Amino acid sequence: MDIELWKKIDEEEPIPAHIQEKMAELKAKGKILPEEKYIKRPTMIEGMRKAGKINTAVLDEVGKYIHVGMNTQEIDDIVSKFTKEHGAICAPLHYDGFPKSVCTSINEEVCHGIPTRLKKLHDGDIINVDCTTILDGYYADASRMFYVGNVSEERKRLVEETKKCLELGIAAAQPWNTIGDIGYAINNHARSCGYSVVVDLGGHGVGLEFHEDPFVSHVGRKGEGMVLVPGMTITIEPMINAGRASVVIDPINDWTIYTKDKSDSAQWEHTILITEEGNEIITY
Ligand code: MF3
Ligand code: CO
Ligand code: CO
Repeated sequence: MDIELWKKIDEEEPIPAHIQEKMAELKAKGKILPEEKYIKRPTMIEGMRKAGKINTAVLDEVGKYIHVGMNTQEIDDIVSKFTKEHGAICAPLHYDGFPKSVCTSINEEVCHGIPTRLKKLHDGDIINVDCTTILDGYYADASRMFYVGNVSEERKRLVEETKKCLELGIAAAQPWNTIGDIGYAINNHARSCGYSVVVDLGGHGVGLEFHEDPFVSHVGRKGEGMVLVPGMTITIEPMINAGRASVVIDPINDWTIYTKDKSDSAQWEHTILITEEGNEIITY
């Protein structure tokens, strides 16, 4: 968003006084608070909700077509076509040089898989489709796992428990809690399942840009890190490995992240808004 528009909204829709006071109070106590530019105002939140609706519809659309034998370029085509038809833009395309409109990450691919006609879905695969939608300049970012054909119980357990990690992370994302509370909840559950949490990548602020502050770690300690203030919009997107936490980046495309031990990895992502009462999932 350009600075003039931001200033106009800031003037017309300032951060409520009681929230400003509480932020100042916590800051005086030494807590880490977000910059005011990351506290979204009603106009911005409305814009993000609209982007979120399309983002959800895109992932629903993808879900209708996932099948054994299709290639990941076909997923890119579905996402690109559907997004355009709804007047929106796929954020990944040309982002930092990313060549496609969506990320498709299969089995031991942790994230940032690049769609290609050369990569087919096989019976028993698990795939993450990560889609970020821009509408009228506002961003919404979410991803889901899909099963391809008959998937083993072992892989299904990884996928379902990773979804549970996201749900627990969202439940911990209460106003005036901290980023550390989110990471604690996720890591605690993943470990109890015998899994490990990827620490090299994480969630992020989102809304006026693709990746804003803060970094949302999926491991953490209760009460540590930045305070969650009503109006913040962040993603929570745990990447959970069946084996060890270490990851490597593809040396050729410089994008795709794999588990180092080649174990399976799963991820689910939502964009959420911290509210005064709790939170709202923008990408439902
Ligand atoms: N959607 C990813 C995220 O959740 C980022 C993908 S960056 C891209 O943050 F360039 F690969 F699209
Ligand atoms: Co994403
Ligand atoms: Co994200």
